[in-house]
Amino acid sequence: MTAPAEARMGNQIARQFAHLPADEAADAVARHIESFWDPRMRRTLQALVAAHDQSLDPVLVAAAGRLAGPRATRRPPTVTPPTVELHVHLEGTLEPATIFAAARANDLPTPAASVEELAARYEFEDLQSFLDIYYANLVVMRTAEDFYAMTERYLLRAHAANVRRAELFLDPQTHLENGIDLAVVMKGVTAAMAAHPEVSTGLIACFLRHLGPEAAVAAYEALEPHRASLLGIGLDSSEVGFPNRDFAEVFERAGADGLHRVAHAGEEGGPDNIIDSLDLLGVERIDHGVRCLEDPHLVARLVRDRVPLTVCPQSNVRLRVVDHMRDHPLGRMLDLGLLVSVHSDDPAYFGGYVDDNYRAVTEDLGLTRTDLRRLADNSVESAFVGSEERAELHAAVEAWFDAEEHALRP
Ligand code: ADE
Ligand code: ZN
Repeated sequence: MTAPAEARMGNQIARQFAHLPADEAADAVARHIESFWDPRMRRTLQALVAAHDQSLDPVLVAAAGRLAGPRATRRPPTVTPPTVELHVHLEGTLEPATIFAAARANDLPTPAASVEELAARYEFEDLQSFLDIYYANLVVMRTAEDFYAMTERYLLRAHAANVRRAELFLDPQTHLENGIDLAVVMKGVTAAMAAHPEVSTGLIACFLRHLGPEAAVAAYEALEPHRASLLGIGLDSSEVGFPNRDFAEVFERAGADGLHRVAHAGEEGGPDNIIDSLDLLGVERIDHGVRCLEDPHLVARLVRDRVPLTVCPQSNVRLRVVDHMRDHPLGRMLDLGLLVSVHSDDPAYFGGYVDDNYRAVTEDLGLTRTDLRRLADNSVESAFVGSEERAELHAAVEAWFDAEEHALRP
């Protein structure tokens, strides 16, 4: 007999929080159910718990207990305001356990002896040492189901983190290099996006700098049948030694085709790579961009032109762009008037999703509620959406902060 939908969905949500201590995971699952399940679904779940249904994840059972209790026994809501995730690589959301599951499903060797052993390798010296492991892990991705599962898992987790819209990065060339047809990749990814309208989504195909400009043009042409599924193009992978200025042709073509344009720059590379991205690639957002601070003229330009910088604090710490979270320049960037927002980059590798990043900067950088509100509003301001959706997103941020204010009053 198949388990009821509430058990399957609830177990799936519980698994999204498997990395948290059990009581925090139960709180998070309870909050998710409270926000998104209708009363009938919640009653069904309570009935399953009362019947001691053995298929239920213990974290789900604990969450159901919290839902049944008085409000005051529950923890305060997540610190994450409604936000837009603009810098997340779908491939970077593949948790070690998911990589193992895909390897087994596809009859391929696992990348390490155990999930724990794989996760223990996630100590990085710099961007390249991360990319080497990240690309190697992706050989397990073979079928549309793999791409569906990757995308769905992220969207469920993002929804629980209060992400209202996500503009997702995908690296088509990685999968082409692994011999996977782009139709397979796009089928899985776009089907999961369509199945989860609770998060508004767009897809940005990134080109890999280390493969060079001609390969980028060839990949852009291979994407032609999928153009309608794309919101834009981006540029990622190794930065030092592979300057963005070399990729002008593919960016020009994409611009002429009406696609949005973004690029990673100023993560490990210097301010010049940011300037070239603006002047030669016509990008509308800079991904990372933290090294703009080395050039006051560039900072003034970015402030004046309201160029969004999609900053990823936990990534910057784990890839040693900064030494410690307490040294992260996010607060300074806000004070300078830069249009910065907070994102997760590769959450399965860097210790956190976007809510974890908000939590880290709140705790370690001592950001104020005003700062948090600016970060959330900046993420909305930086999104590629129409005026109606933008207004709705700003209204959600406003409502969240108003509700918090009321909750804080005695
Ligand atoms: N691909 C995935 N994550 C990346 C990052 N932080 N920088 C460049 N390329 C990436
Ligand atoms: Zn990135």
